[in-house]
Amino acid sequence: MEFYLQYSTWGLEPDFEDSKMRSVFALTLACFLPGVVAVNGVSNDPTIFGNNFNFWKKLSSGWDLTRGDSAGAITLPMPENGPITIQPNKSALVIIDMQNFFLHESLNGDPKGRAIVPATVNLIHAFRAAKMPVIWTNWGLTEFDLVNMPPAFINGFTSSSSSQSSFGSDMGTIVVPSSDHSIPATATTKGGNTTVAVGRKLVRGSWNAQPWGALLDEQLSGVAKGTDFYFNKNRLSGMWGPGTPMQTFLQDNSMTTLFFGGVNIDQCVWGTLLDSYYKGYDVILVDDVSATTSPIGATQMVDFNAGLNGWRANSTDFIAALKAAAKH
Ligand SMILES: *[C@@H]1O[C@H](CO)[C@@H](O)[C@H](O)[C@H]1NC(C)=O
Ligand SMILES: *[C@@H]1O[C@H](CO)[C@@H](O)[C@H](O)[C@H]1NC(C)=O
Ligand SMILES: *[C@@H]1O[C@H](CO)[C@@H](O)[C@H](O)[C@H]1NC(C)=O
Repeated sequence: MEFYLQYSTWGLEPDFEDSKMRSVFALTLACFLPGVVAVNGVSNDPTIFGNNFNFWKKLSSGWDLTRGDSAGAITLPMPENGPITIQPNKSALVIIDMQNFFLHESLNGDPKGRAIVPATVNLIHAFRAAKMPVIWTNWGLTEFDLVNMPPAFINGFTSSSSSQSSFGSDMGTIVVPSSDHSIPATATTKGGNTTVAVGRKLVRGSWNAQPWGALLDEQLSGVAKGTDFYFNKNRLSGMWGPGTPMQTFLQDNSMTTLFFGGVNIDQCVWGTLLDSYYKGYDVILVDDVSATTSPIGATQMVDFNAGLNGWRANSTDFIAALKAAAKH
């Protein structure tokens, strides 16, 4: 009788004969109640996008992405398609490839990538203060990864025409100031020089695979405190294939909503964002903590599509709301 009561309350046809079906529906309704549920389990409330377990709710302005877990939810302004209401403990900042290999001046790294580091550090601090996890995913190859690396990737990461200059090759040494390993030594460098072994190209544990500049301490201290999590990757995307360490972490911890930054916006950031989108995560591209060495058209393509797949914003659009949330 109880089941029939619920059916009529929620507008369902009271013509199910199968008692198993009835209990499944009653259980589902009791748990979430995001709207009227049709026979196939998909809501027919026009403001609900998805099923009982995984849905967005369209609000009069913007979206509720909390999937019914609204305790402690926060609302962030977005320049387009927003604002978004998110569940802080299901939402993470993903920082991609901000490594010496891609950023250090002595390794021909990208000055635009170095320029976004202060904004990146600010955003990391704001996520931590709001008790939202920070995820680092970087190239960090094993011997097994080197054996399994496809020819196209080996070719893409050579520094000469030789395959022996690609992943895993010894990158030699560089000279840096003893006081600051994130910049090259010059004739006017104060306080003496140090020679650094750059290590094997993008191999796990090598100096070139470490985060650049201030980000190294951020990553090490964040991981030590348990606010941050670090995952090696072996392709441009940190979310490719049937599963990666990062994807396993997201699944095990019921994450739903991901903010992306790093380098290059059109390669590793885009690859990771797109795979996350394919796998059902909510994706937000953060423009001012992303950069690239590619021509402008590459960024325009990413910006255009990221706006269709989810949201695009600058950290300056929502960092004040994160900081306000941290005070509560
Ligand atoms: C997430 O945060 C909410 C609100 O603070 C809390 O009720 C809930 O227990 C948290 N969930 C987890 C898995 O930490
Ligand atoms: C430090 O290295 C730079 C660049 O190689 C060089 O010009 C400079 O003379 C070095 N300084 C010292 C004190 O050795
Ligand atoms: C971020 O800021 C830049 C510079 O002001 C601007 O060109 C860009 O459109 C902004 N991005 C978004 C998503 O609003």
